[in-house]
Formats: sequence, structure tokens, C-alpha cells
Amino acid sequence: MPAPRYAVFGNPVAHSRSPAIHQMFTAQEGTAIEYERLLAEPGCFAQAAAAFFADGGAGANVTVPFKTDACAWADSLSERARAAGAANTLIKQANGKIHADNTDGIGLVADISHNFQVALAGKRILIIGAGGAARGVILPLFECHPASLTITNRTAAKAQELAAIFGIRAAELGELPAAGFDIIINATSGSLSGQVPAIAPAVFAQCELAYDMAYGREPTAFMRFAAEAGAQRSADGLGMLVEQAAESYRLWRGFSPETAPVLAALRGGEI
Ligand code: ATR
Repeated sequence: MPAPRYAVFGNPVAHSRSPAIHQMFTAQEGTAIEYERLLAEPGCFAQAAAAFFADGGAGANVTVPFKTDACAWADSLSERARAAGAANTLIKQANGKIHADNTDGIGLVADISHNFQVALAGKRILIIGAGGAARGVILPLFECHPASLTITNRTAAKAQELAAIFGIRAAELGELPAAGFDIIINATSGSLSGQVPAIAPAVFAQCELAYDMAYGREPTAFMRFAAEAGAQRSADGLGMLVEQAAESYRLWRGFSPETAPVLAALRGGEI
């Protein structure tokens, strides 16, 4: 029997750590899978995904910029994929239909609550950013019963739009209350280019965790800013990457991998 085939679609995709992560999960399961990177051209996701699944693909991850395309293309959607308007996981079902899910939010929640041991229930949570990355995590955060969930964004209208859709609060970036939040999550794409949202340092005064969904070899600019502003801890999004992958793997294969050794291997540069 050939090994079941999985892939990650993206553009660019050469940098993706997903193959290394999933190979470690497979070793834990004591089996073998194929997991490749597939570069698709913008506008051609549906064609590429259809070809992959017609050719025996069992499941796929989807990354930037195709998460919205994946959501539109799939035959059925999970509630969280529908809420996010984006999918990062595709699953071929026994009847041949493709089901789309979104494990990004649950990955963020698992990283904060399990890996960092920071409870989300009863906390005042701020999300910065109102693009696809922010949208994907609102529902799973909301389901953790925070005391409040507030969204803010450089372009205020976009935060207001998401706040109205999800029934959460919106606030202007320049008018956030000092010491107003316990957990502050950066979901802007600014980190990728070293840019920090224009937020007053006093906002971090009672922040127990400042979480950047981006990650890199060094602490991100947002993490450094938050630490200087008084956040007790700051984190990058590498744990979220591993946790969302673990949830995808579980959906595909019914096996829940251990994430700690995989995260340690990534941090240690071993994979
Ligand atoms: P993604 O899918 O990664 O969320 P996106 O949909 O392009 O990407 O959204 C990017 C988000 O990062 C937006 O909220 C954007 O703010 P605007 O809506 O005002 O454009 C935010 N962003 C990007 N660069 C930023 C910066 N330098 N400062 C603050 N916010 C930034």
C-alpha cells in the first residue's frame, strides 16, 4: 500500500515548516505518510486542489493566500471555518467529498491555555488586526468565555465590521484604555516586516500575556515592544503553528500527536 498523501498549498510555500511537523507526528503514530509542499498560482487554487485530490490526496493544509479560496471551493464547511470565512484544513471523506475546517483558532487557544498555562476564561482579551488572521481566531476565543473580547485595528471600520458580525466590542487603536487587558493578541501582518501597531505602552500595564501570531528566529518587534511596555510575558506564534497542525492531523487520521517534542525540535533548530 502506498503511503497516504498529504500536502500544504501556499504561495510562497518553500518556507513552510508543515512537512517537518507532520513527519514528526507520523513517527509518533508509528506509520508513514507523504507530505509535500505544493505551490499554486494566485487564482488557480481550485484547479490545483482538485488535481491533488483526484490524484489520491487524502488531506491538505492551506496557507496564505488561499484560505478563503479553500473555504469557497470545499463541498462542506465546519462551523468554525464558516465563521472564519477561511479554511486551513481539507479532508477527503469516504464519499469522495472534500470537507473544510479551520484549526487556526483552536491552535491559538491550545497554545495559550496548555503551553503557556494562561486561562482565557474571565480574562479581558484584546485582538489587534481585522484581516483574515484575526477573523479566524475570534469564535474559538469567544467560546473560551473571556470577561470581554475587544477588537481594534489601524483601519477602524474593519474592526467595527468584525465586531458587529461576531457580537464583540470594537475600540479605536489610539483610544484603548490603560491597563485595560489581560491578554493582548497581535493578529496584524505588520510583524512580518517588523512593524508594531501604534498602541500606547500603558495599554500593556496589566497584560499577563502579549501574544504575536507571527514568529521568527528572534523575538518579534511586537514581543519586544510589549515586554518593554510592561507585559509580564510575551510569546510568538510558533506554538500556534504546531497546535493547528496537530488538530489537522487528528482530523485526518484520528490520532492526537504530542506537540511538546515537536515545538522543542523547532525551537532547537533540529527540524
Ligand atoms: P491576514 O490574512 O494576515 O490577516 P490581511 O487580511 O491583509 O492579512 O490583514 C492584515 C491586517 O494587519 C490588517 O488588520 C491590517 O490593518 P489595516 O486593516 O489597517 O490594513 C494590519 N496591519 C498590517 N500592517 C500593519 C501595521 N504596520 N500597523 C498596524 N496594522 C497593520
